[in-house]
Formats: sequence, structure tokens, C-alpha cells
Amino acid sequence: MKIAALGAVLAAQFTLAQFKQTPLPYAYNALEGSIDAQTMEIHYSKHGAAYASNLNKAIAGTPQEKETIIKILSETSKLSPAVRNNAGGHYNHELFWTILTPEKNTQPSAKLAKAITETFGSMDAFKEKMSKAGADRFGSGWAWLSVDKNGKLFVSSTPNQDNPLMDIVEEKGTPILGIDVWEHAYYLKYQNKRADYLSAIWNVLNWKEVSKRYDDALSKK
Ligand SMILES: [Fe+2]
Repeated sequence: MKIAALGAVLAAQFTLAQFKQTPLPYAYNALEGSIDAQTMEIHYSKHGAAYASNLNKAIAGTPQEKETIIKILSETSKLSPAVRNNAGGHYNHELFWTILTPEKNTQPSAKLAKAITETFGSMDAFKEKMSKAGADRFGSGWAWLSVDKNGKLFVSSTPNQDNPLMDIVEEKGTPILGIDVWEHAYYLKYQNKRADYLSAIWNVLNWKEVSKRYDDALSKK
């Protein structure tokens, strides 16, 4: 290969987008019954893809090009709305795909189950609180289960693509479970019935992944 051609190949490699979607860990139709295939396909391949792509455009030529997504989220108050929206959008969706699964009846770890019962009274009370956080979110946003700086669980909700890792949110923490309540997450199947979507999502919740994220969050305290 001539030097110029080699240079072009190397340049192309180094100009590859920094943030990319990880492959969806199941088929678009794997969650049918709770989330339909068309919603999953549009959500992942259009909305999710756009957040990654637009984040790369928004940080092009800025110091954030060399930062991790966690670092970028921690300094959103100093960054543009485009970075805030797309960094949040990219992080939130990458988390969202992993906390869903076609595997039936996954269970929280004993440690997480105990913490949920101690914090919220019972698993049912927790689910109710989480669903209420999603249902009460006016417009678009997310409902979260997070770990705060003292290692305690808490439920919160954020508008748009904000999340508890951002320095601009009131309730800060490390999210371990996030439910997307944008209409693009449910409207094809559920139309205006957001509560039905919030109820069905527990059928495809990946408690193994949430438990792993809980352990990871505690280990960083
Ligand atoms: Fe979404």
C-alpha cells in the first residue's frame, strides 16, 4: 500500500465516531407482548442511533471528544443544549436496552431485593413508586432507580434526556434502572396508555442486569 493510501486509511480510523451504539442484545421482536418489534426497531435504529451520531457532531472539535460519557454528563451545566440532550440520550438508551430481556422471570439479587424492601417497604411498593414517577412525568422523560452517594436507593424522574448523573439535576446518583417514557418508546402499541406500558415493562425487566449495576454502583462508593 502506498504511503498516501495508508495515511487515508489511518485518518479514516482516527476520525471514526467516538460514541457508538452497542448491538442490541436481543432481536427487535424478542420483547413482543410487552414491547412490539416495530417500536423496538425504530427506537433502537433511528432514535438511539441519532443520539450517538448527534452527540459525536455536538462534541466535534471540543475537549469532550476525549472524555468519557460519565465525565460529559457530570459537567452538563457547562455544555451546550445539544451536548446535554444527546449525551443524555445516548447514555440513557444504552442503559435502557440492557435492562430489558426476553428471559422470563429474572430476579433481583438477594442484596438488591433486601435493599428495595428496606427502602420502599416491598417490591410491589417499589414498582408502584417507579410507575408513578413515569406516569407523572409531564411530556417526555425518564423514571429512574438510582444509588445515591451514601449507597441508598432512590426513585426519581427527569425531563427530556436528563439523568441522575448530570450535575444539573436535583437528585443525583448512579442510575441502575431507567424507564423511557417518551412516546416513541410505547405509542405504536399503547397509544396514550402510558400506564399500561409502565405496567407491562416489568414482564421484560432484566433484574440480573439491574443487580449487576447495583453492585457496580456500590463498589464505586
Ligand atoms: Fe427513547
